[in-house]
Amino acid sequence: MCGIVGYIGNKKAVPVLINGLLSLEYRGYDSAGVAVLNPNNSDYILKVVKDKGRVKILQDNSELETITGNVGIAHTRWATHGMPSKVNSHPHLDNSGKFAVVHNGIIENYVDLRKKLLDNGYTLYSDTDTEVIPNLIHMNYNGDILEAVSKTMKELKGSYAIEVISPLFADKIIVAKKDSPLVVGIGEDENFIASDIPAVLAHTNNFYFLDEQEIAVVEKNLVKFYDINLNEVTKDIKNIEWDAESSEKNGYEDYMLKEIYEQPQAIRETIGSRLSLDKKVSLGLENVDFKAFNKIYIVACGTAMHAGIASKYAFEKFCKIPTEVDMASEFRYRNPLIDEHTLCIFISQSGETADTIAALRLAKEAGSTTISIVNVIGSSITRLSDYTLYTHAGPEIAVASTKAYTCQVTLLNILVINIAESLGYESKELNSFKSSLLELPDKVKQTLETNKLVKDFADKVYTQKDLYFIGRGTDYAVSMEGSLKLKEISYIHSEAYAAGELKHGPIALIENGVTVIGIATNPITTEKTLSNLEESITRGASVLVVTNQNIKNDKIDYIINVPETDSILSPIISVIPLQLFAYYIAKNKNLDVDKPRNLAKSVTVE
Ligand code: F6R
Repeated sequence: MCGIVGYIGNKKAVPVLINGLLSLEYRGYDSAGVAVLNPNNSDYILKVVKDKGRVKILQDNSELETITGNVGIAHTRWATHGMPSKVNSHPHLDNSGKFAVVHNGIIENYVDLRKKLLDNGYTLYSDTDTEVIPNLIHMNYNGDILEAVSKTMKELKGSYAIEVISPLFADKIIVAKKDSPLVVGIGEDENFIASDIPAVLAHTNNFYFLDEQEIAVVEKNLVKFYDINLNEVTKDIKNIEWDAESSEKNGYEDYMLKEIYEQPQAIRETIGSRLSLDKKVSLGLENVDFKAFNKIYIVACGTAMHAGIASKYAFEKFCKIPTEVDMASEFRYRNPLIDEHTLCIFISQSGETADTIAALRLAKEAGSTTISIVNVIGSSITRLSDYTLYTHAGPEIAVASTKAYTCQVTLLNILVINIAESLGYESKELNSFKSSLLELPDKVKQTLETNKLVKDFADKVYTQKDLYFIGRGTDYAVSMEGSLKLKEISYIHSEAYAAGELKHGPIALIENGVTVIGIATNPITTEKTLSNLEESITRGASVLVVTNQNIKNDKIDYIINVPETDSILSPIISVIPLQLFAYYIAKNKNLDVDKPRNLAKSVTVE
């Protein structure tokens, strides 16, 4: 995830662009840059200033003072392809230096496109996927920029919101989008472009929203829209009245809610080009001899560990290797039985968690192969691991992890497929598992529609003191995450139990005023979990069940129906109502959901 801004009008572009970037920093902040068309005699030249680091570093760059032009584009980056560095920062230029481009999204076929460009004599200077775009535009340009952009869009696979400027058409900014956000803000004798409304809300409340695979030609007094085949499209202006605080969160009340709603896109970007039905998964692990492993350890903390627990079932089923999940804080002190025949997988959103780092060092000392699943590019864990696979969740700002979890489970399951295919365990079942994974972004989007019902239940039970989550198999795994989410942001006491364990002790706690949430998404165990819920109802509990099965039971207070999927993947879907539940409970209690007491986003101490 990155942020982009554009300006065309009569003002100096740089201050407008920098202010826009500052309010988009929540989308990414490892590097930033601007490109402006600067007057040069009777012509224009492209001036590009960019650097690694936060927008403040760019803002303090004295080179910006020499830029007076009124047309410009800008970018704040959250690295996905290529480390944070000046050369990888946006804007990127084509080899002729005529086209400057900023891009938010991921070009999935960039390896093929790079090859095509290199074969055609182009040089690529960065490690980014983006640099192919200005060069393809150059390659496709025959005097008509719209045609060049349309042809280029047809070659790109993946997601993008792009802005293009050039001295060849100095009175225009060309923008295009697919699966990444982009709005055009309308002013008087000036127009604005941004990833999100907040970036330009100080200048206008009137916006056009681009639809998928649309192009806009933005001039200072005119905006025209086209589909990918260059048929003109008409659009209505929408008036947005937001206050400053809600605008920072793109209209959401809190970062946590915003991040919950970003999950379909974050999962889509994490899958990216890694998974398709017609070829084997390739995660850059060709040098790993998976036959050498007789055991897999998944090690992490908190929510990241829950992602590991949710994925253990897939490792054992498809890779047929015994898999254990451990808390990093326990693993590091208990002399685990690991050696060169153990594959150790570490999971961390921040890549900086002290216990996970220590466990990783231990695994390396024991000669194990280490693979890490991390969200923050270039973080400590990525530098220490033998191999790193990145989730593309974008910056997660709320302390309670949501989108990182669903992206971690998604990526772990892609790793499962990679290992199973390397071991020669291809099967019809594995293929249908791949299809199920590819359907997840849409199904997660559908699941978000359960919000009203979930809120309704939260409104009823938010004053309760004790809450239990129960499930079996992957439903138990997601129960643990639901319980943790509730504890950390609502401060309500909560526990997760394997449903079958309830009668071995915890059922003694069930009485009037207690709430039990059951997760029942596996056809084989649903009946059993329902019986355990009935036992709770008999003892006075209020009950909600999250299910993809056809349950008819009048005694259950709320049934949240979620889309069906392979039961191994169901945590990615069934966690959504649980995240929303924790959120609405905390809101009912007037708590700061983004910054719960006593917790920090990155735990760099033991
Ligand atoms: C809970 C949460 C924490 C983290 C844990 C590990 O919502 O965010 O439990 O999952 O502190 O952090 P990372 O993933 O950064 O290693």
